[in-house]
Amino acid sequence: MARAFGKVILNGEHAVVYGVPALACGLQRGVSALATRSESAELLFDGKAVEAESDTKRAFDAVRSLVGSGAYRVDVSVDMPCGVGLGASAAIGVAVTRALLDAEGARPSSAELLEIVSHWERVFHGNPSGVDAATAALGGCVRFVKGQGVTRLRLGSRLQLAIAVAGPPSSTLEMVSQVRAFRERNREQFERSLEAIRTLVQNAELCLEAGDLSGFGRLMDYNQMLLSAWFLSTPAIEDCCRLAREAGALGAKLTGAGGGGCVVALAGEDGPEPILRAWTAAGFQCFESDVVDSQPGPAPAGQLTEQSP
Ligand code: MEV
Repeated sequence: MARAFGKVILNGEHAVVYGVPALACGLQRGVSALATRSESAELLFDGKAVEAESDTKRAFDAVRSLVGSGAYRVDVSVDMPCGVGLGASAAIGVAVTRALLDAEGARPSSAELLEIVSHWERVFHGNPSGVDAATAALGGCVRFVKGQGVTRLRLGSRLQLAIAVAGPPSSTLEMVSQVRAFRERNREQFERSLEAIRTLVQNAELCLEAGDLSGFGRLMDYNQMLLSAWFLSTPAIEDCCRLAREAGALGAKLTGAGGGGCVVALAGEDGPEPILRAWTAAGFQCFESDVVDSQPGPAPAGQLTEQSP
């Protein structure tokens, strides 16, 4: 069974599209896929075949042609919310590609795997930075730079995350275009914010490695303010962030494309339960996730580098 992780971006979404590093984590929830030989190529979600004229089928065909695989039935099972900024489409792309490669007995490097998955991602998101797919493939906590690859971070202490679906679902493609339009209208302000996020991410990485969770939480809050200034926040996102902080979160922010989708909060010493209780009482769907450090699939190579101990 091939697996891939859902993801949350802890700092740097959108800025990552313009070359700023992003910090992201694999979730315990994710996607699994199994490829078995068949008369014709088929992709099924929980036993139901995808429609012939769908983006998912187009993405599947793109990946199949690159893997050069024979005809397989690929059964996919998704154990995470979809369309809400948790990288479900990248995780499905990684799991399906891994399933086909496994079935063919191929052992590509992670960089080769991600090159194939980028064709899946482009069907849905135009020209994504690649942070979602890299995190879906690697899990753990990573630093990603567009065009340069991904480095696994060593955490100074365990990260306990709480995630709320603030909703509604939002389109990454549309939100990325919205930010691009904002940048065209406000060049100077945009460049200043980008530099602020670059500095913030640098400091956030140091906090993570030193186990300074309070410092890291404050930087999540600061990142949320900068993302709000790009009109990516919503009243529901702001409510979720406030409720989380009132319930003891060290920091909270939107995660992913914004304009809806999810909020991620870093739990303090009381753990995620008080945050989850506050969100549930306010009617938000939510769950917790520890940062998983296991690593499925092929070892990183090429563009993917592990940080030395
Ligand atoms: C989406 O999960 C992350 C964005 O930064 C888009 C991207 O990196 O391609 C909004």
